[in-house]
Amino acid sequence: MLQHILSYLKFLKNSSNQHGVHSPFVYQLLTECLYTKQTPEKFSIVKKHRKWLLQNNNEIEVTDFGAGSRVFKSNLRKVSAIAKNAGMTQRRQRLLSKLIAYLKPNEILEIGTSVGLATAAIWSGSSPSSKITTVEGCPATSGIARKGFEHFSIHNIDQATMKFDQFFESENFRNKIDFAFIDGNHSKKSTLDYFEKLLSRMTNDGIIIFDDIYWSTEMTEAWKDICAHPKVTVSIDTYQWGLVFFRKEQQKEHFTIRV
Ligand SMILES: C[S@@+](CC[C@H](N)C(=O)[O-])C[C@H]1O[C@@H](n2cnc3c(N)ncnc32)[C@H](O)[C@@H]1O
Repeated sequence: MLQHILSYLKFLKNSSNQHGVHSPFVYQLLTECLYTKQTPEKFSIVKKHRKWLLQNNNEIEVTDFGAGSRVFKSNLRKVSAIAKNAGMTQRRQRLLSKLIAYLKPNEILEIGTSVGLATAAIWSGSSPSSKITTVEGCPATSGIARKGFEHFSIHNIDQATMKFDQFFESENFRNKIDFAFIDGNHSKKSTLDYFEKLLSRMTNDGIIIFDDIYWSTEMTEAWKDICAHPKVTVSIDTYQWGLVFFRKEQQKEHFTIRV
C-alpha cells in the first residue's frame, strides 16, 4: 500500500498533460483521443452490459491462474464481485473505447477476458471488420463473458478459453496484431514472455497496453525493461497503463502522462 502511494506521488511529480509534449504523434493522441469528451456511440451498450454484470449475484467456481487475487480468499465467487474487483472501471472502459476508435486497429488481442468488461469496451470502439480475440483460462468466467456478449449482441468476439501460454503456442496466434491489451498474470517473467511473443507479430502502427504496471515491484521492473527494448519507440506511462508503440518513424522517447 505504502509502495503504491509512493509510486503514485512520484508519477504525479513527473507527469504532464499535452502541454509538456513536443511529439506531434503523442500530442495528437492526447488532444484528439484521450482528452476528448466524446465516446463512440456503441458505448451506451457497454454501460448496460456493465450494470448487468454488477447486478448478477450468481456464484461461479473460479479457476485461479497467474499471480492470483489479492481480494478473493475462496474460489466460489459472485459474478458481481468479480466484475467489481477484477474488471476495469467505467472510466478506463471509456478510454479503451476511444483509443480503439482513434487507432482503428484491425487485429485486436486481449490477454485476460475475465467477465468481459474490457472486451465490451474494445468492441464498442471497433469497426465491424475488426477481429477481436480475447483469452481467458477459467472456463466458468469465460462462460459468463460469453453470456453477456450474447445478451447484448456484442458480436465479432473470438473467445479462446485456455491458458495464455497455450494460446501463444496455438493456431489462434498466427496473425499480425495491431492492438494488444495485456491484463492478466501480473508477474515479471510472464509479462516479459508475452511481450517477447507479441514482438514479432506487431504491425508498425501497432500498440501494446500493459495494465497494472505499478501493481508490484516485479511489474514495474517488467515495464522498465519493455520501455528499454530497442524495438519500442514511443512509451507512455499513464500510471495504471503502460502504452508502447513500435513506429519506426518515431525517435525513441518516453512520456509520463496523466489521463
Ligand atoms: C484482471 S482480470 C482481466 C480483467 C479484464 N481485462 C477487464 O478489464 O475486464 C485477469 C484474468 O486473467 C485470467 N488469467 C490470469 N492468468 C492467466 C493464465 N496464465 N492463463 C489464462 N488466464 C489467466 C484470470 O482468470 C482473470 O480472469
